[in-house]
Amino acid sequence: MPDSLQTQTQTVLDLARIRSEFPSLGKDCVFFDNAGGSQVLKRVADRIHAYLLSTSVQIGASYQASQQASEKVLAARRSVAELMNAAHDEEIVMGGSSTGLMFLLTQAILPGIFPGDEIIITNSDHESNIGAWMRLQKAGAIIKIWEVNDDFTLPLDQLDRLLSPRTKWVAMTHASNVLGTVNPVAEVAARAHAAGARLCVDGVAYAAHRLVDVQASGADMYVFSFYKVYGPHYAVLWGKREFLLSLPTLNHDFIGADDLPYKLQPGNVNFELSYGCIGISDYFIQIGTELGAQGGNRQRMQLAFEHFAQHEDKLSSKLLAFLRDKSSVRIIGFDHVKNSNRMPTISFVVEGKQSEEIVRFLDKHNIGIRFGDFYARRLIETLNLLPHGGVVRVSLAHYNTEQEVDLLIEKLELALLA
Ligand SMILES: Cc1ncc(COP(=O)(O)O)c(C=O)c1O
Repeated sequence: MPDSLQTQTQTVLDLARIRSEFPSLGKDCVFFDNAGGSQVLKRVADRIHAYLLSTSVQIGASYQASQQASEKVLAARRSVAELMNAAHDEEIVMGGSSTGLMFLLTQAILPGIFPGDEIIITNSDHESNIGAWMRLQKAGAIIKIWEVNDDFTLPLDQLDRLLSPRTKWVAMTHASNVLGTVNPVAEVAARAHAAGARLCVDGVAYAAHRLVDVQASGADMYVFSFYKVYGPHYAVLWGKREFLLSLPTLNHDFIGADDLPYKLQPGNVNFELSYGCIGISDYFIQIGTELGAQGGNRQRMQLAFEHFAQHEDKLSSKLLAFLRDKSSVRIIGFDHVKNSNRMPTISFVVEGKQSEEIVRFLDKHNIGIRFGDFYARRLIETLNLLPHGGVVRVSLAHYNTEQEVDLLIEKLELALLA
């Protein structure tokens, strides 16, 4: 937990105010499937609507609407660069999904992979940051697997043993979408770089809960999806400028190697969704400002996230305390919140029950959670959770209330007895 979290975050989040930003909340159900996809900000939807009804033209022409459209798309890139703390706007590559962007990235990397090159992946990632790397085996790459420990962490000493002078890439997740564990990416970056390798980080399960800072992360590439961060079904891949410049173009032949990010965005990006994403940063900045933050936009966003984290920790602690108390329940992840060491993504299995039974029971009470492997299939297999049909996953966000968690606990109590 940053020091400022203990010192500055005294005010309780005004949840009525927060929830007024999300018109879909509380309509039909209590929503605890945020790691699947969060609710969308009204200001994001408004921007998409406004874009489509005012400047839905091709960018880059000299007429006025096209000039305005170009400026909106550039403004979106600036806004996302600020949200991620990118050093240069052109380091921001936008695309339809994190999975799609990972495939694009590895396509661009492919010509530089030679037989015997080594790539380290983890067994706790979403398949998005595994499958694309596995395909590089066709070019002779050797895949090594960094395995999660019994304590749900990725041990750094094991990484040290896996790294070699042949390691080209390490691919890992910033936070597990099943375990909720936050991984020490800056430590990993330092070790990978010392071995001459690069680091690619999947921040999808992290970005809704902590302010992304790609420079502090030490990563060379960083990806996340906006639909998990209060935005639309759309995603971003950030990469260090010098590295992106070294990649071949994935676009038409005549698009130059220095034409960033265009050379890595074949075809058009989605203009209206890009423009909508400005609403995400706007929201964080506005909430930070209302909480009394001063200084630049990043400081304002940071204060908003510190409050979100504190609130989420409180909700997680309550749910974890309930689950710890049940002898039939096995929590799959850290069972306590300590120093913000986990996301509010809480998975568990129940002895003698299929995970699906618990979820279907809660469906009847209009509480939206889910079960399965969440495409972290290798993790679920390794932890031998297939016999349960995967885990039950409750994933909270900062807009969830204590009353909602109380209701969930009340109904879970019944589900365990059923
Ligand atoms: C941790 C993580 N990484 C990647 C993804 C894939 O994101 P997308 O649907 O944008 O490809 C998900 C989706 O659930 C995820 O949870």
